[in-house]
Amino acid sequence: MKKQKAFVFKCSSCGHEEPKWLGRCPECGEWNTLAETPISSRGGAGGSAAKGAPQSLPLSSVDPLEGTRVKSGIAELDRVLGGGIMKRSAILVGGEPGIGKSTLLLQAAAAADTKGRILYVSGEESAGQVKMRAERLGIRGERIEIFCSGNLEDIQAIITAVKPILVVIDSAQTLFSAEAGAAPGTINQMKYCCWELVSWVKEHDAALFFTAHVTKDGIISGPKSLEHMVDTVLYFEDSSQDGDTRFLRAAKNRFGSVDEIGIFTMGEKGLSTVEDPSLLFLVRREGALPPGIATAAVLEGSRTLLVEIQALTVPAKGSMSRVFSDRIDSARVSRVAAVLEKHLGLRLSDQDLYINVAGGIRITEVGVELALACALYSGRTGIPVPDKTAIAGELSLAGEVRPLRRLPGRVRTARNLGFTKFLSPASPAEDTASGEALPAALPDGVRNIKEAVKSLFST
Ligand code: TYD
Ligand code: MG
Repeated sequence: MKKQKAFVFKCSSCGHEEPKWLGRCPECGEWNTLAETPISSRGGAGGSAAKGAPQSLPLSSVDPLEGTRVKSGIAELDRVLGGGIMKRSAILVGGEPGIGKSTLLLQAAAAADTKGRILYVSGEESAGQVKMRAERLGIRGERIEIFCSGNLEDIQAIITAVKPILVVIDSAQTLFSAEAGAAPGTINQMKYCCWELVSWVKEHDAALFFTAHVTKDGIISGPKSLEHMVDTVLYFEDSSQDGDTRFLRAAKNRFGSVDEIGIFTMGEKGLSTVEDPSLLFLVRREGALPPGIATAAVLEGSRTLLVEIQALTVPAKGSMSRVFSDRIDSARVSRVAAVLEKHLGLRLSDQDLYINVAGGIRITEVGVELALACALYSGRTGIPVPDKTAIAGELSLAGEVRPLRRLPGRVRTARNLGFTKFLSPASPAEDTASGEALPAALPDGVRNIKEAVKSLFST
């Protein structure tokens, strides 16, 4: 962590370098973004001023980073990270205050599969408060060192002394440094401090977590301004319907996919993973389904979830009809409604459309479209979808039901959960990666929305 003699001033916003400190970056025009950076930690790019000529390496001679992951001990977190915590990487966990960021990282600190030491830096809570939370979570934490401050230079000194394998900074917004050249508490202070710590982790066998609050009015002043300098950005969110369910999503991941979600419930003893999340988004009912409800088999990363889609249509109150849908993109709802109107003559343009997803999960996968169409059709006509029917399919504007990837897996999950009918595209996608065969009894394949409605509602 020691500053070397040779250093330059590097802009934390655009990466531009200057030999002298300047108040404003001449490259991008941002104020107070130039930070002193040792030449050794500037990374490969832009290192033209370094001693000697810059050198490239044959890619074949570079050591891959494979095998350098540490399991966090929390399966859902590892899943979202792409198989564990990558060493030499910085991970940002954003979310609203009170969502459970500190809880998640304290639990990960305790469960991490490493013999190394773990440094938990809290700029928001006292050591006693962290201890209280740890006791509530049943964590003894022999390996966890706690340090309560936001002062960058102090944190750097502690890191040098402790040599941790995992550092948690809770939160990025409480970091400050006398060297950052701006008033404490400003975004530039936070960016400067985070940049210094990220530069450190790139060169050490450790991993770094930051938490960052997202507030309703200040998304840009918080995590967003750090996204470019970290390797992975995770957002922690709740479902707004079931107060205990929490979703962890990757917004950026240099070491894994951004499709996976982690599903947790917050309980008396902290966050726990959900045994069978495929059941979480279904509603148990006695007897037949009411109209307006359809069950979609959608993909969330590598998992299939069965999710109840609810649609309500009522005559529009204003001259313009409106779509009220938080969990499925409103533009998608409007498009599916337009397809129903055009290809089935089902009048929806004079209706207000309310769409909900049980369990409050946000659905972005295209495979939800056919189920959404069926829920809307059922809601508008008052004819219920037959019991125990799962649906998956993408709709084109021409009213076709398009082939869908990973159909066999969806059918299998639905079967396992007791669904006996599966409405799907007539053919699975060509690129069905796994090459899996469909289960013996084929699902009801349909080619277009007309066939879908006939198959579901005319018995
Ligand atoms: P916290 O991790 O402090 O949130 P953040 O760091 O994102 O601000 O979590 C705070 C909330 O979680 C608080 O409302 C209490 C609740 N909670 C539980 O329900 N059970 C628990 O075991 C713990 C530790 C917290
Ligand atoms: Mg917190």
